[in-house]
Amino acid sequence: MNNSFGTRITLTLFGESHGPEIGCVVDGLRPGLRVDEDFIAHRLSLRRPGGPGSSARVEKDPFRIVSGVWQGRTTGTPLCILIPNTEARSGDYVNLKNIPRPGHADYAGSVKYKGFADPRGGGHFSGRLTAPLVAAGAIFLAALRERGIRIGTHIARCAGIADRSFGELAADLDALEGAAFPVLDETRGEEMKAAVLAAAREGDSVGGVLETAVLGLPAGLGAPWFDTVEGLLAHALFSVPAVKGVEFGDGFALSELRGSEANDAFRMDEGRIVTKTNHNGGINGGLTNGMPLIFRTAIKPTPSIAASQRTLDLSTGGQTELRITGRHDPCIAPRARAVQDAVTAHVLLDLLESV
Ligand SMILES: Cc1cc2nc3c(=O)[nH]c(=O)nc-3n(C[C@H](O)[C@H](O)[C@H](O)COP(=O)(O)O)c2cc1C
Repeated sequence: MNNSFGTRITLTLFGESHGPEIGCVVDGLRPGLRVDEDFIAHRLSLRRPGGPGSSARVEKDPFRIVSGVWQGRTTGTPLCILIPNTEARSGDYVNLKNIPRPGHADYAGSVKYKGFADPRGGGHFSGRLTAPLVAAGAIFLAALRERGIRIGTHIARCAGIADRSFGELAADLDALEGAAFPVLDETRGEEMKAAVLAAAREGDSVGGVLETAVLGLPAGLGAPWFDTVEGLLAHALFSVPAVKGVEFGDGFALSELRGSEANDAFRMDEGRIVTKTNHNGGINGGLTNGMPLIFRTAIKPTPSIAASQRTLDLSTGGQTELRITGRHDPCIAPRARAVQDAVTAHVLLDLLESV
C-alpha cells in the first residue's frame, strides 16, 4: 500500500498542500467509539504553526467528518475527515518547479511521479498532510484513553539545548497535553525558543529530538520477528516527514553499557511485575513488558530556509542560487509532537485490536 498503513485499523492519507482539500480515511474502527470534535480541534491546534518564528501560514483547520460517525460515535464503517487548504499561496513555489529544494522531496518526488506530481508547497510530501493524521490520531488517542493508556511527547533536545528527562510520568503527561511548546522545564523551553529565533533571524533552521512516553500498556503486546512493537512503531514514525532517526529506551547509548548495567531487574510492586530500571524502553523481544514505552525520534532542521542555497536548475542542468520565499517554520519539532502522538496511538490501538 502506498499511502495506507495499519492491519486491523487502516489509515489512508490523501491530498496535496495546495489542492482544495486534504484528508484521511480510517477503516476498521470498532462501532461505538466516542468521537469528540472539540478534542480533535484541540489536537489540531497543537500541530498548527505558532511557535517561535513560526510559519505565517496559520491554517484554521476547519475539519469535517463526512462519514463513519453518527451521533458522536463511530459507526464501524470507513471514517473520512476532510480539511480545506484555505491559506495556500502557490505563488511562493512557482520558481521551484525545476529547482529542487535541497533536503526536501522535490527532486525525488518528481522522479517517482515522472514529473506529474503537484509541486506546489511540497504537494503530497508536505508536512501539511500531517493535519488529517493528527485529526485521526485524536480518535485513536481517545480510544486508548478509554483503555487507560496515555501518550505524551516532549522536545527532549532542540538546537543543542536539553529539556529535563521524564520524571513522574502521569504528571508530566498531564502538563504536556495542554502545552503549546511541549517541554518539561519551562526555563529550558525559553532557551530553546531563543535559539530557534536566532536561527530564523539568520535565515536558517534547527532540528530537535522528540521523546515519547506511553503509560498503561499491558505486557505481551506485539509479535516476535516482523511485527515487533519497535518495528511497527519505527515504520509509522519514519513515515512522518523530517524524522531521520528512531531509538527505543536508551537506544544507541545501550551499546556503550555492559549487560550488568543495561539489564532491567525484575521485581514486584504491589502485586505487579515491574522492572527497577527501564533501559529497554518497555520492550523485550519485540513485545511490551508492561513498563512505560519510551522512544525518541530525531527531527531534522526544516529544509526550506530563507538563506541562499546552491542547487540545480533541472531545465538546464546548471548550478543555480535558490532563495526560498515561502512560509516555513524554523523548527519542525514543536509541531511534529502532535504527529508523533498520533502515529503512536494508531500503531498501539491497531495492535490492541489485533490481539
Ligand atoms: C508538522 C510538519 C511541518 C513541516 N513543515 C515544513 C515546512 O514548513 N517547510 C519544509 O521545508 N519542510 C517542512 N516539513 C518537513 C518536510 O515535509 C520534509 O522534510 C520533506 O518532505 C522531506 O522529507 P524527509 O525530511 O523525511 O526526507 C514539515 C514536517 C512536519 C512533520
